[in-house]
Amino acid sequence: MVHHESYWNATGPTSDYPALASEIEADVAIIGGGIFGVTTAAMLANRGLSVALVEARRIGEEVTGKSTAKVTSQHSLSYSDIEARFGADGARLYGEANQTGVRTICDLAARHGIACDLERKPAFVYATGEDEAERLEKEAVTARRLGLPASLTGDAGLPFPIRTAMRFDDQAQFHPVKYVKGLAAELPADKCRIFEQSRVTDWDPNRIATEGGSVRARFVVMATHLPLGRTGGFFAENYPHMHAVMMGRADPARVPDGMYISVETPHRSMRGHRDEAGGAWMLFTGPTFKHGHVDQERAAFADLERFAADTFGVSADYRWTNEDYRSMDHVPFIGRSSSRGDSVLVATGFNAWGISNGTVAAILIADLIEGRDNPWVSLFDATRIKPVAAAKEFVAGSADVAKEMVGGYLARKADSLAALAPGEAAICKVDGKNVAGYRDEAGALHAVSAVCTHLGCLVGWNETDRSWDCPCHGSRFDCDGGVIHGPAVTPLAAFRDA
Ligand code: FES
Repeated sequence: MVHHESYWNATGPTSDYPALASEIEADVAIIGGGIFGVTTAAMLANRGLSVALVEARRIGEEVTGKSTAKVTSQHSLSYSDIEARFGADGARLYGEANQTGVRTICDLAARHGIACDLERKPAFVYATGEDEAERLEKEAVTARRLGLPASLTGDAGLPFPIRTAMRFDDQAQFHPVKYVKGLAAELPADKCRIFEQSRVTDWDPNRIATEGGSVRARFVVMATHLPLGRTGGFFAENYPHMHAVMMGRADPARVPDGMYISVETPHRSMRGHRDEAGGAWMLFTGPTFKHGHVDQERAAFADLERFAADTFGVSADYRWTNEDYRSMDHVPFIGRSSSRGDSVLVATGFNAWGISNGTVAAILIADLIEGRDNPWVSLFDATRIKPVAAAKEFVAGSADVAKEMVGGYLARKADSLAALAPGEAAICKVDGKNVAGYRDEAGALHAVSAVCTHLGCLVGWNETDRSWDCPCHGSRFDCDGGVIHGPAVTPLAAFRDA
């Protein structure tokens, strides 16, 4: 049987922090308990500031708990691209920051004795075609010049021929849920209070509020992958996309000793893992698809599972999806949310490298709050505007948004909610309204408005996670309309109110 959930969430520890249920005060209020939020809390609490971290679901289990959990500064072909956009100094700072992120994770795990299956591994990006090999060779020259631990090799330990690979030494991999929950457990209780099952629905620069309570603070940090609502306009500067992810038991003799990603598309990204009983596993991801486009989702999984089976003899025991945001100029936005210098701080657009970039963000945000100098400030400046740097695909993504807003999904409507078979989902037109309907395996109908509560696009079905996902800016909702993930903060309306 294939589990429709993240392996990391299924095998990690649980947490049970209370919900926010009163009016409290802290130096810093953090919204979101992924690696960025929890590491920021750790940095600030260890410097003596009081922190209240408020997580809508359970800490470490959303985007971080669905990641590949590669701890690396090797971000595919990023460095040549960043150098072209931000110059050699910018690319050097990006590399230094992410190398610091890797070291910080390893140091925190060691200092606190966090049992998170952390292993030092090399990270490889490989090319199988001649053109891609040429690009990779140039990338390796750039990376070495920037001081990164890069080398070229013809043998990456993969069971198929490659043209060349770029190897980064002294990188790492871990179990992300064990790490985040383990780090949270080490936070000093007198300095850091954590609340779960507490969705923030309202905020201003000095206060956040949930249904049950509020936090008044000098600073608010939005550690929500994409800032909530319309904050800073970041929803228009980051391009959302989904990844198909699978993990399965593997023959230990066939698990290569590194972390890998291909230059060629669809990307092949993979890594091994040892469970607590010593069993070997492999994780695969790479093919992307647009939120809510179930045909693309099916094609992505079919492609991924064919590759895993043919190349490593692995079939899926766990299958899930995860989302990423690519910033319009390929460097994350980290810092103050507006150039007015207000007290809302954000980090977003991690470009699929959120483990190291999320840790970079925590270091930088903690320094900004404390007023410490940090050499990374201007590179990651969240208020920079570089319209000329916008990538072609970002413009194409914006065009897609316009299409979804005028109802691109209506072409997929079912005849009626009653016609839905068990396990089936569709957008139906009922009394002139767009209704998102899903009939579960037991035959119960779940019907909600198909209109995203962020800015009004139509949601589409995610067959793997059984959620309604918005293609415009990446909000995700469960089949009963509850918010899984922002920027939306309000549930999809009930069917009768649609
Ligand atoms: Fe923005 Fe849905 S996420 S309209």
